[in-house]
Amino acid sequence: MSLAVVILAAGKGTRMKSELPKVLHPIAGRPMVQHVVEAAAALEPANTVIVYGHGGERVREQVSGERLRWAEQAEQLGTGHAVAQALPELEEDVVLVLYGDVPLIRPDTLRDFVATVNDHTLALMTLTPDDPSGYGRIVRNEQGAVVRIVEQKDASDEELRIAEINTGILACTRRFLNDSLPRLSNSNAQGEYYLTDLIAMAVDAGLTVAASQPAFAWEVDGVNDRLQLARLERVYQRVQADTLMREGVTLLDPARLDVRGRATVANDVVIDVNVILEGDVTIGTGVRVGPNCLIRNATLGAGTVVEAHSVIDGAVVGEHCQVGPFARLRPGTELAARAKVGNFVETKKSQIGEGSKVNHLSYIGDSRVGRNVNVGAGTITCNYDGVNKFQTTMKDGAFIGSNSALVAPVTIGENATVGAGSVVTKDVPDNGLAVARGQQRNVDNWPRPSKK
Ligand code: UD1
Ligand code: CA
Repeated sequence: MSLAVVILAAGKGTRMKSELPKVLHPIAGRPMVQHVVEAAAALEPANTVIVYGHGGERVREQVSGERLRWAEQAEQLGTGHAVAQALPELEEDVVLVLYGDVPLIRPDTLRDFVATVNDHTLALMTLTPDDPSGYGRIVRNEQGAVVRIVEQKDASDEELRIAEINTGILACTRRFLNDSLPRLSNSNAQGEYYLTDLIAMAVDAGLTVAASQPAFAWEVDGVNDRLQLARLERVYQRVQADTLMREGVTLLDPARLDVRGRATVANDVVIDVNVILEGDVTIGTGVRVGPNCLIRNATLGAGTVVEAHSVIDGAVVGEHCQVGPFARLRPGTELAARAKVGNFVETKKSQIGEGSKVNHLSYIGDSRVGRNVNVGAGTITCNYDGVNKFQTTMKDGAFIGSNSALVAPVTIGENATVGAGSVVTKDVPDNGLAVARGQQRNVDNWPRPSKK
């Protein structure tokens, strides 16, 4: 049977107190509704429809996925009305209803859930939380079968004592939705078209309501305010951390790693506290990452050590390299094996060859550095004339004395040497020496100025 997913995301999110539509508030750096879109996509539905309203254009711009369609709900008249807005976009056999503000639902849970739907069965996800207040309650008959849902605001005192609640997630045939949604009424305490009234209609139509629970209660936790957002962020991060540890990664404190993207981490990697892995990050065997590092869209080769307070962004680091402490590798940096980039060094769009060292206080931009090059402390590539950027080349075995300025475009030849403090504006030949600085002049027995 073909599957469609409807994601309700039209709500205002008043309690977020935000200009940003609620469903765009991020979990792990991505809009929460994007997490729902991805969980849905794992089921490979033929069609996914997002019902949007508040902040519509922004939601459409910031959410992406395959076979996504959009249905506008201009006025929020209730969850039943919201699903009805998606109906014209639906032609599949089975429809699964999810929520843009319930971001941590897992594909495994959804797969089992959807599998129970057929012409005679509607699937309903329920939960028995510690505190059921605020939620719709699941009313069962004496045989224990689900017969209807009563919303908190419509419930009698007796009904309010029911512990089992409606998570909101349900799945049924499109045909049943087609038949029942137009028959919803809004004569209830909130004057809304309740999706939950479908349950009693299903029972009237002779369908069975198959109630099931998620594997983890947090899968169906919703976000209404920033406290709940923060709580779910921690849940999400803990799940990532646990997964990494199971896969053979040592985390010195699993509560102090944040993964905001996709991290592929090999065995025996050790990650110290307060590390953020962002975007696509690949870390090879035996890598050690020191405390307080940000690693974004980067690859770290096996055996590499990243010392404390380093930022690695858009860089490819080879095997057995040493980075930091306090290094900043910017996009386009490529370190070959055994290269070293030390403290207070910034690199950008530069290849640094095997075994080369840039150990202290340097800026290396738009450069091609060969093998076994030694770049002395305080070396600056002057790559920018205020308008254009130019290349610097340091060939194999070059030695750049400390505090040198290499004014690009310029090439330092193979095994060439630059004297400390030089401002190099012309190419240096292979094996040559360039000294480009004021000559030292000594004055014997020079009297220091004294107070008059
Ligand atoms: C709903 C359920 C309730 C359940 C609870 C779980 C109904 C009538 N009640 O209640 O049984 O226990 O969720 O959290 O369904 N939305 C729209 N358009 C609308 C109304 C809502 O898109 O017109 C979206 C909201 O953005 C939100 C979701 O649907 O993501 C749920 O709406 P909300 O108003 O929070 O429903 P609850 O009153 O919490
Ligand atoms: Ca809600």
